[in-house]
Amino acid sequence: MAKKIITEPSRTLMEYRLLPGYTSEKCKVADISLRTPLVFSQNDDKKYYLNIPIVSAAMQSVSGEKMGIELARLGGAAFIYSSQSIESQAEMISKIKNYKAGFVKPLTMDPELTIREMIEIRNKTGFSTFPVTDKAGKFLGLITKWDYDRSLHLDFKVKDRMISRENIEYGVSISNLKEANNKLLESHKSVLPILDEKGKLLYLVFRKDIIDHLNNPLEVHDEKKRLLAVAALNTHDYEKRVPALVEAEVDVLAIDSSDGYTVYQQETIAWIKQNYPEISVIGGNIITSAGFRFLVEAGAAAVKVGMGGGSICITQEQKGTGRGLATSIIKVVEERDRYLSETGKYIPIIADGGVTSTKDITIALALGADYVMMGRYFARMEEAPTEKIVVNNHVMKPYWGEGSPRAREWKMKRYNQSQFVEGVEGLVEYTGRLRDNLEETLAKIRSSMSTCGAQNIREFHEKAELELISALSIREGKVHDIYQSTEPLEQKEYNDSDS
Ligand code: IMP
Repeated sequence: MAKKIITEPSRTLMEYRLLPGYTSEKCKVADISLRTPLVFSQNDDKKYYLNIPIVSAAMQSVSGEKMGIELARLGGAAFIYSSQSIESQAEMISKIKNYKAGFVKPLTMDPELTIREMIEIRNKTGFSTFPVTDKAGKFLGLITKWDYDRSLHLDFKVKDRMISRENIEYGVSISNLKEANNKLLESHKSVLPILDEKGKLLYLVFRKDIIDHLNNPLEVHDEKKRLLAVAALNTHDYEKRVPALVEAEVDVLAIDSSDGYTVYQQETIAWIKQNYPEISVIGGNIITSAGFRFLVEAGAAAVKVGMGGGSICITQEQKGTGRGLATSIIKVVEERDRYLSETGKYIPIIADGGVTSTKDITIALALGADYVMMGRYFARMEEAPTEKIVVNNHVMKPYWGEGSPRAREWKMKRYNQSQFVEGVEGLVEYTGRLRDNLEETLAKIRSSMSTCGAQNIREFHEKAELELISALSIREGKVHDIYQSTEPLEQKEYNDSDS
């Protein structure tokens, strides 16, 4: 006889709906805060908060450096995938940490090149403004598309057509965007070179980038104002991977596994705590209260919850293990709250796998999750590290699981893991830039919270009232009993003779 048999079915997020609560004037959508803890932190350190309750999954087809930079600028975080070499993952983390909004490390031009050669480089890179430097990196001038004419200057040298340093407004050792911005505004120019004390070129600052930066009030930073970077880990090579990630200045680590209730995660966390006590580690995934206890007692500073619900996941079919995500969250949140009352430690919970729409995000948060992790949602976007393709006139992007044959190829070579796959590969419809998609998603989350009378996520946890709904209610909640067409309809004014 099995140790335990639960006869109540487990539930998914799509089976719950929120009941409206009293909305006061304090719940204006524009005033609702989505700030949420990334990990438990003893001193409530600012660096360990996200400004939106959304992170991207540690997957090859989702979270590279572009996603890492853009999502941190918009208030969340990408968990940079670990199914790649230690060097390339560390380089991604380093690029996120060294990304300075507005401060661009530019491609430089040799003054001795001809304009013809320069145009070739311009065509390859798409840039139109180049700083000119000598072999030692000393700034000599700028050359832009306005400084030459293809019919007149192709055989001139760059140094003959550039605007030389004496005639350019530049800044010396400026590292503060506001200061750079003020100088740019004074100069009437669109670009400002920043040099060091010895005249070596450090960065270019473009006016358009500064405006863009000022448009990102939710950006998440460390204490030095650098973007937050989170890296995924496996339980095989952590003794080599963690030092390289720490060297690249990673902020938080997250163990990536479908089953976190294991001695391997316990050992991984113990090793990190012993060697890098200042680094917080997220553990997971777990779906039971016992799994939660185990991981937090091992030292996890946040816990990922979910098994078998991911859009590319076949774990339930292959192994028969898993649980509906709503039930997993409910069980783990109950245990988290018990743990909080016993120890005073609030451990954030991440809902992961099968969070597909905004309403799923809202329900997961209402049930007590602190933020959600999504793969498919982000795989559709420009910033995902995959190429767009056109299939039957639809622009698509590929999306594959970390347990799919494609991702496992990398792992198999190294760890000789089991022979069967737990994920598949497919296509998702391209939806454009992350920024535009997130804007709509966040507006919907804020609107639901307002309807429930919550000004922030903590209040949402306390005030949300949810109800399980029937299959018929789900049907009723969709568009019904009207004529809808996906094709444009030919319409004309009605005449009596038409009936
Ligand atoms: P999605 O947001 O529904 O696409 O799910 C993404 C989540 O699925 C990830 O964060 C992982 O927890 C999980 N996952 C990723 N790859 C696989 C896989 O190959 N098999 C099972 N689960 C996976």
